[in-house]
Amino acid sequence: MASMKEMWDVRRASLHDRDALKELCRAAAGEDDYVIERLESMILHGVMDVALDGGRIVGMMHYSEGIDGSAWLAAARTHPAYRRRGVAASLIQNAVGLARRSRVHALRLVSAASNAAGTASVLANGFHEVARFTRVKRATSKGALRTAALAFDADLVREITDSKVLRIGNGYVPYGHYFVPLTPANVHLLANARAFFRVGGGIAVVSADSEDPATVEGVVEFGLVAGDPSGILRALPGTVGQLKELKSFLPFDRVVLGAAHRAGFEVEAWGRKVVLYERPVEVGPTTYRKRRTYAEIAAGKREGYAALALLAGGQGHGHTGPHEDRWNP
Ligand SMILES: CC(C)(COP(=O)(O)OP(=O)(O)OC[C@H]1O[C@@H](n2cnc3c(N)ncnc32)[C@H](O)[C@@H]1OP(=O)(O)O)[C@@H](O)C(=O)NCCC(=O)NCCS
Repeated sequence: MASMKEMWDVRRASLHDRDALKELCRAAAGEDDYVIERLESMILHGVMDVALDGGRIVGMMHYSEGIDGSAWLAAARTHPAYRRRGVAASLIQNAVGLARRSRVHALRLVSAASNAAGTASVLANGFHEVARFTRVKRATSKGALRTAALAFDADLVREITDSKVLRIGNGYVPYGHYFVPLTPANVHLLANARAFFRVGGGIAVVSADSEDPATVEGVVEFGLVAGDPSGILRALPGTVGQLKELKSFLPFDRVVLGAAHRAGFEVEAWGRKVVLYERPVEVGPTTYRKRRTYAEIAAGKREGYAALALLAGGQGHGHTGPHEDRWNP
């Protein structure tokens, strides 16, 4: 049982750990592990946690918060010499603690159905299956985004709530590097983020977040929200414009995947059957200080000094730090 296992020391990784993490990825998932090129971005956005044996990094897992108050787990890697000793379990426990302190109500992740170790370890750690998807991609055609984002209103909620294609994915759509259940509240959030577009007579969700750590430049992530999948999939490649590639997780369904095939999408080898898992988090009564990402800390510093310069009103206070200014106005 996981509870009888060793508990491993976990700390947050920084850019200094890049090389060690690269080595861990190579050992755990192979020379061409897709995580390697995203390490830097993952360290800076969200929280990259590592498990330690003495000073040695033997496991890793990435945690990032989504727009809907959930968090996404990715890049789970345990060194082959340390498998089945509770390393991944310790990292998941740590993520649960972080989620609880941040008032994050659910953890989610995907694993290929063919990945026996990945599947076993998430099921052993309180996750349950939510829906199945297939990873597809297609080059875009020439064209430009001709439609404006759909505004939030009751009709939008109704069209989405009644959607058949959404139901196949149990109400979840891919958004950026994670998934969001399209409850009316989340429809509101995503409409405000200008994520819904009318395409081919239906509605697609298109991720606009270029800061997304897992989104590669020139790639647009989309999801089927409502309407005829075939119409959306045919129209999208000519709608998106300069971007080089379209990617999606489509509901694992014969009819939808047939339509995708006819619209020129191909299935990625690892992702024929991808399972979305969720683990609810019991949020405690106490709110702790939220941990910021390194990128947020850096941005905050810039904002802080810029704000101080403004407050100083050009009186030439020079480079005073925030503390000095707070106490010596
Ligand atoms: C998946 C992975 C991260 C699991 O890491 P780990 O540190 O070995 O996992 P844990 O020791 O915490 O396992 C906890 C439980 O998960 C289950 N489990 C993990 N690996 C398993 C396997 N190969 N077969 C069966 N059950 C397994 C067991 O129930 C285990 O508890 P037990 O050993 O007491 O039976 C690791 O195998 C790995 O790095 N794989 C390659 C990369 C990858 O696939 N990442 C996951 C993407 S979702």
